[in-house]
Amino acid sequence: MRLSLAPVFCLLVPTLACYYPRGEVPATLPRDYSAVIKDNIHARSLNRRQIPSQRVALTNVRVFDGSCLQPPSTVYIENGRISQCVACEGGNCPPAETYDGQGMTLLPGLIDAHAHPMNVTNLEDLAKAGVTTAVNAFCPAPPLCASLKNHTGLTSLVTASFLATAPGSEHAMIVGPLGAPYLIHNASQAGPFVAQQVKQGADFIKMIGSAPETGLTQAEQNALVAASHKAGKQVILHAPRHAAYVQGLLAGADQIHHSTLDTPIDDRVVDMFKKNRNTIVCPTLVAMRAIVEQIKPANETYDSAVETVTKLHEAGVTILAGTDSFENGDSAVQAEVPFGSSLHDELENLVAAGLSPVEALNAATINAARHFGLADRAVIREGMRADLLLVRGDPTVNISATRDIAGIWIGGVQVKSQ
Ligand SMILES: *[C@@H]1O[C@H](CO)[C@@H](O)[C@H](O)[C@H]1NC(C)=O
Ligand SMILES: *[C@@H]1O[C@H](CO)[C@@H](O)[C@H](O)[C@H]1NC(C)=O
Ligand SMILES: *[C@@H]1O[C@H](CO)[C@@H](O)[C@H](O)[C@H]1NC(C)=O
Ligand SMILES: *[C@@H]1O[C@H](CO)[C@@H](O)[C@H](O)[C@H]1NC(C)=O
Ligand SMILES: *[C@@H]1O[C@H](CO)[C@@H](O)[C@H](O)[C@H]1NC(C)=O
Ligand SMILES: [Zn+2]
Repeated sequence: MRLSLAPVFCLLVPTLACYYPRGEVPATLPRDYSAVIKDNIHARSLNRRQIPSQRVALTNVRVFDGSCLQPPSTVYIENGRISQCVACEGGNCPPAETYDGQGMTLLPGLIDAHAHPMNVTNLEDLAKAGVTTAVNAFCPAPPLCASLKNHTGLTSLVTASFLATAPGSEHAMIVGPLGAPYLIHNASQAGPFVAQQVKQGADFIKMIGSAPETGLTQAEQNALVAASHKAGKQVILHAPRHAAYVQGLLAGADQIHHSTLDTPIDDRVVDMFKKNRNTIVCPTLVAMRAIVEQIKPANETYDSAVETVTKLHEAGVTILAGTDSFENGDSAVQAEVPFGSSLHDELENLVAAGLSPVEALNAATINAARHFGLADRAVIREGMRADLLLVRGDPTVNISATRDIAGIWIGGVQVKSQ
């Protein structure tokens, strides 16, 4: 198939970057996505796995139901879905395969609410770690994002828009040669920007909060949120600093991603969250730590980011588990976070910040599904997608048990764990 590449993706978004230290922006490298798009599409047809139509039984498993473990039972997978435990006609149809889950816990497949997969290796790394759904948190080019979707037996994606930012911001420099048509110069451009992104397949609008540095004004953020909501889309705000949190709360962003590296949120921000129960947070602590350790920005600490999460949790704010996983093979310019394994790090980080293991599991399953409108997964119930993670031990007691993987199914297709 010949790809017709419109100017947008011959052009050049150097990295997917989420964060740069103040005043430092990596060189703008020309970036042509056509090769990776071709590889992704090729791998999709080459690797297309059959969804088994025969019944698979997971016996003696204790199912995590969102609050505790159920007594041992049998869960069936059939045609990609969790199926009912019924004997078929004639009463004699043993499952094609049986897995003994004695001593194990069956979880819904994990959801990484913030990642930046680019190619099939990234999807495989997510899948092998039991991350059955991920949010692709920035779409530099719609054909690239489309080429990562619909891979049978690999992680399925929810996809962001292009990033909304203003001239003069650090992210505007990342946008680089794409320049003017992709930047928001004033509030009246919010409507057309959102309409264009929705037309190109964005599941939600990604907005960059640059405060206290130059970036979108309050009026521009307000207009982006209003236009997105009118189009039936959520706004996810990138906000790694306190001032960016305030701006996003005032604008009514649906989700704030990242945590405050400069200073923990103060009582005023806690009050704003309490008054605006619709705004939730995906703190990506694993990435905040990577930034602090790898880039060592002045006056920014991992402790601030953690303290913010502790305060949000105490205030009853819904928290999602996300990683900001990103690899470009050049950690000199951008903090790198591995795909897949980092979500298990994040679960531990959330527990260390004060969430219970059950709350951390919900942050990576049902709460993510609910806030991204994924009604077909994250609950182990008849008819739901068979996105499942079988682990040894009990992660509701010790969250680290999610790493001890015994089996993974994505849409009913078994995945080899690492
Ligand atoms: C996904 O792949 C299947 C099989 O090739 C195809 O029938 C279906 O239309 C694809 N869906 C999307 C959204 O690309
Ligand atoms: C908004 O910015 C665009 C691009 O610079 C410009 O063409 C337009 O006139 C501006 N609109 C208003 C209302 O300032
Ligand atoms: C860090 O904080 C100190 C003390 O407030 C200040 O003088 C300095 O300019 C800050 N450095 C940066 C890079 O912001
Ligand atoms: C995907 O990207 C990663 C990171 O840049 C790279 O190491 C890997 O080889 C790539 N895989 C494919 C199939 O291109
Ligand atoms: C949780 O499990 C991990 C891995 O097995 C182990 O290293 C750790 O000590 C356990 N933590 C507690 C509190 O038991
Ligand atoms: Zn990101």
